[in-house]
Amino acid sequence: MGNRLKNRSRHRPHGIDGRPVRIGAGRRPGPLSVVDGMMPIMTTPAAVIVDAAAYAQAVENAVSAAAAYYEGGTSPLDDDTYDRLVRGIAAWEAEHPDEALPDSPTGKVAGGAVEGDIPHTVPMLSLDNVFSAEEFMAWTASLNRRIGREVTRFSVGPKLDGLAIVARYSDGRLTRLITRGDGIAGEDVSHAIGTVVGLPERLAEPVTVEVRGEVLMTTAQFEYANEARTGHGGQPFANPRNAAAGTLRAKERLYTVPMTFFGYGLLPLPGTDGPLAERLAELPHSDLMSLAAELGVHTSATTAVPESVAGSPEQVLSRVKEIAAERAELPFGIDGIVVKADLAADQRDAGSGSRAPRWAIAYKLPAVEKITRLLEVEWNVGRTGIIAPRGVLEPVVVDGSTITYATLHNPADITRRDLRLGDHVMVHRAGDVIPRIEAPVAHLRTGEEQPIVFPEQCPRCGSDIDTGGERWRCAQGRNCHLVASLSYAAGRDQLDIEGLGATRVVQLVDAGLVADLADVFALRHDQLLGLERMGETSTGNLLAAIAAAKEQPLSRVLCALGVRGTGRSMSRRIARYFATMDNIRSADAETMQRVDGIGSEKAPSIVSELAELAPLIDKLVAAGVNMTEPGATPPPATDADLDGRDTAGTPGVDRPLTDMTVVVTGAMTGNLEKLSRNEMNELIERAGGRSSSSVSKRTTLVVAGEGAGSKRAKAEQLGIRLTTPDEFATLVADLLK
Ligand code: IVH
Repeated sequence: MGNRLKNRSRHRPHGIDGRPVRIGAGRRPGPLSVVDGMMPIMTTPAAVIVDAAAYAQAVENAVSAAAAYYEGGTSPLDDDTYDRLVRGIAAWEAEHPDEALPDSPTGKVAGGAVEGDIPHTVPMLSLDNVFSAEEFMAWTASLNRRIGREVTRFSVGPKLDGLAIVARYSDGRLTRLITRGDGIAGEDVSHAIGTVVGLPERLAEPVTVEVRGEVLMTTAQFEYANEARTGHGGQPFANPRNAAAGTLRAKERLYTVPMTFFGYGLLPLPGTDGPLAERLAELPHSDLMSLAAELGVHTSATTAVPESVAGSPEQVLSRVKEIAAERAELPFGIDGIVVKADLAADQRDAGSGSRAPRWAIAYKLPAVEKITRLLEVEWNVGRTGIIAPRGVLEPVVVDGSTITYATLHNPADITRRDLRLGDHVMVHRAGDVIPRIEAPVAHLRTGEEQPIVFPEQCPRCGSDIDTGGERWRCAQGRNCHLVASLSYAAGRDQLDIEGLGATRVVQLVDAGLVADLADVFALRHDQLLGLERMGETSTGNLLAAIAAAKEQPLSRVLCALGVRGTGRSMSRRIARYFATMDNIRSADAETMQRVDGIGSEKAPSIVSELAELAPLIDKLVAAGVNMTEPGATPPPATDADLDGRDTAGTPGVDRPLTDMTVVVTGAMTGNLEKLSRNEMNELIERAGGRSSSSVSKRTTLVVAGEGAGSKRAKAEQLGIRLTTPDEFATLVADLLK
């Protein structure tokens, strides 16, 4: 491992005097206290290194990540993970100072990763970091002490998350672009001239100067870059920074990808005429930046977070807050705020260390990017029928909150970015903006990744999908919801209308014959016969099934309405408690809570959804749909009468399962063979019992059919009574008639 890879300076914590500080477990154990409302920064704990071998491995990993970071494109570690690793390394070195490796990223040699052969006129230094308002105040205090007076003019601007670059202008003409390299010499990347927005090939005046700044990709440029790259068979860049680094250094390209430059420094070059050189040396930083802008160089001045002058450390802090608040909405990445002593005299008196100037500091913001894995893609249908993919992620903490989902926009976007299931992906989350997947980290692929399967039918209603636009849409559009809810209502566990599957529902909706559930009950023979693939027999069968559905018990009618929180078993409980739809509809939230399993949260939403459904329910009543629960008695009017009320069934009817909790498992046979699990549960409840799906100490009876497995074993283990389906059928024989 070469010495040149020694340090990834961005990540290396340094003291406020520019000297490296010892870091390790416990230095910054958790949230820092908050001063003046500044956001505290959660810093992840150091990686734990247990022995010399783990230490050597950690150093190797950190060194290669740092090299990748500088060389552009493919660091396998995100910033947080890298920081954690380096802290762990430092902690281990603190305990074993004699065993520290010369390659360690905590080493004292300043500089970046890649040496170039173009010497810099003045070294390109890095910046020290602070992470909180307190640390910033300590830095200003030490700066004041060092220069023997108070700094009262600061410039405060965004810390752009790109790569440092030097642009040399000779008589106003752009002659050379050089990377930072190791800070002493950099690489010639003049081939990129013409592709960097904001660095004009000619300045407004024929001056000989050096402009320093950051080159990066805006969000739009990054998207374009990855589109172009994957379109040419390449692998996508993980994030805009890597994309800028990779693009800047690539000499031969079949296509051009633009980047954007932001100037943050203006210096004389050999050849700068005397008076101008003197002027540059005396101008405050803020004036230098205005001059750069006048010459035609792009700076932060034209962005939503322009660099500005602050008169006190407190003003700096409030400006820091403002910039941090804008971060999520910016069209380019920032990873902090740079604060500089603005006056040339203050800068001169403060001086610089070997690694960083003492007159400037980076106020770091929390990382907004992390690498995690894409586990699944879900397809959700919105109200207008738009089918939107959403990535399910291995949970990852970014900036203090756990992310499990990220937007994926549309199928074309997935294809463009060549995402696969199981991919490591770079996720970005800032502020309250929905997290987004930036790109797969292509070099971390194992070959096990699977293609993302796009739906062929609408995942909600089963209709065709209109794939004509970028965003896919259910062919039913806004009616998708109607198709889905009617198919659900007609399902076996609800109204059980055989012959009314999703395809038939789509036909009926398309033909304008039904616009709600009640319309199903008004369908006429001639209307149905007119539909494609509907002959006499199927028409007759469907009408008979619809007629039979009118006689379904209230519990199933209620379930068919699809009120949130009232699935099959809850619908049965409600129907049995209230006995009639009128009783249900006149219940307020408090009354609703008398039903077992309905609490203070669910009750009001059920009551209000039922109120919204009033017109539909009225229409169903008018169509002759049954609205009573057989065998149930209405509740008494007053609370006093409630005590001891048995809501499980009708007094007087034989209820052989009273007070029993019954679990059904395996295949039913004999008289029970045709019953779905839901129908078995209905039977149990009609017989006075409670149905449950899992065996526990509270279970009183397990009906175990053929193929029963773990539930049967558990019942045996707990000594719970077991019956065969036939024995059970005998037990409830009266109710099966
Ligand atoms: S001034 C003498 N201003 O951050 C140091 N640097 O972490 C002069 N950076 O190497 C740097 N935005 O590449 C300065 N507004 C800004 C910046 C900025 C980003 C980069 C720069 C530097 C690195 C240090």
